[in-house]
Amino acid sequence: AAPVRHEAETAPAACDGTIDANHSGYSGSGFCNSRNATGAYAQFTVNAAAAGTATVGIRYANGTSAGRGANVVVNGSAVSAHAFGATGAWNTWATAAVEVRLDAGANTLRLTATTAAGLANIDFIDV
Ligand code: GCU
Repeated sequence: AAPVRHEAETAPAACDGTIDANHSGYSGSGFCNSRNATGAYAQFTVNAAAAGTATVGIRYANGTSAGRGANVVVNGSAVSAHAFGATGAWNTWATAAVEVRLDAGANTLRLTATTAAGLANIDFIDV
């Protein structure tokens, strides 16, 4: 099936920070600029018709020179870690692809920052 886009600024998604629109190139009406803190998050609700693995495309920008590492947390369990490395500028967006296992029905997918810098700016996830 075609991926479904989940914008970071659209409920039930939740941004532990602010929804900003000051760096161009985002989809929808903005992106999640999380707090600059370990544990800061962007959370999405993903519905799956059946249990199984899914590819998640996470669109992000990181205008610093250091990675903004984060865990991918599905239904409360950290399932992988990703670097969310520098993209060169805050208006340069990249997509990280991660594989997750989903339950049938509603799942929560949370990106949780593992450094004090917080998350990269998060535009959307495609699942
Ligand atoms: C800048 C930038 C933000 C970004 C922040 C950060 O303030 O404009 O979009 O989120 O740096 O370092 O997290």
